[in-house]
Amino acid sequence: MAGVTDLAYRILAKECGADFTVTEFTAASGLTRKNTYSWLKLESDKRESPFIPQIFGGDNDEMVQTVEMLRERADSIDINFGCPAPKVCKNDAGAALLRDPDRVVQMVRECIEASEGTPITVKMRLGTGSGPNTALEICKRLEDEGVARVCVHGRTLRQRYSGEADWSQIREIAEELSIPVIANGDVTSASSAKDCLEKTGADGLMIGRGAIGRPTIFHDIKRDLGWLEEGPPWGDGDDKVARLWCWNRYLELSRELYGGRPIKNLKRHAVSFTKGLPGASAMRVELHSEHDQIKLGNRVAKYLQELAYEGPIATP
Ligand SMILES: Cc1cc2nc3c(=O)[nH]c(=O)nc-3n(C[C@H](O)[C@H](O)[C@H](O)COP(=O)(O)O)c2cc1C
Repeated sequence: MAGVTDLAYRILAKECGADFTVTEFTAASGLTRKNTYSWLKLESDKRESPFIPQIFGGDNDEMVQTVEMLRERADSIDINFGCPAPKVCKNDAGAALLRDPDRVVQMVRECIEASEGTPITVKMRLGTGSGPNTALEICKRLEDEGVARVCVHGRTLRQRYSGEADWSQIREIAEELSIPVIANGDVTSASSAKDCLEKTGADGLMIGRGAIGRPTIFHDIKRDLGWLEEGPPWGDGDDKVARLWCWNRYLELSRELYGGRPIKNLKRHAVSFTKGLPGASAMRVELHSEHDQIKLGNRVAKYLQELAYEGPIATP
């Protein structure tokens, strides 16, 4: 997720139980122009296995060139046809392409030809929401082209994030396809995960907003569905202890992975890790004016520590 799933966060999500992580969607136009900021989004580490960079674009040549640059490093490459952002759609990329199944198929075909065996996967929505529904047709054609997996967000482009994800249409797609279909949209807990798996018959789940500030969701789902044999890395502490562990681990991983570079999503994660907690909005006011990242990280850690252990910790 853009602005969320930086490398440190992806490794944290894995340590919290996620089986697969995907990079932020990254513009093929930036990557082919060797834009440093774009390439930083596709950093990885041996702990992130499989490594799945997600790319998007409206120009087939740029997409092909990007696949050629990534195919050696990536375990699979995911193409985004799901983004509803106007600045992406106006360049005929992201979910806007779903209005033209032939273009989607042609782009994917060229990317598969260029990938030299590295699997190509697709993330998409239930069509544009205007004109005929193209989702099932596109999925079937993509399977015929050799796409290894599709992930379907159960909303149309027009809906953006409004309304509810339509899991029944994901079911239709899952029933028609032989390749794995991953269901996405509105899974925020173990019970909604169970419900979504039952209602869609999908092979797996992708969790977006439910994991923002809450990487523990992956563990919680697996625990409640009885899929776990081991306890979590934060021991037998409650949710507040888990949040504190996650925040400290995020800081630790960021320091290790980014060296002296600023942690680009630190403030955003600080807000989401503390969302809804008592006294968090007052603490966040302090964060707005804090430009020193070490102090900011420590301030959130202190807040979460006091919350987890109910009061300031006495230091000897
Ligand atoms: C802040 C934000 C950034 C996102 N960035 C991406 C992205 O880079 N790639 C992608 O495939 N989906 C992205 N999405 C969409 C989510 O992956 C997901 O499809 C959508 O939020 C619905 O799933 P959810 O209900 O689990 O959040 C983003 C969503 C949000 C809220």
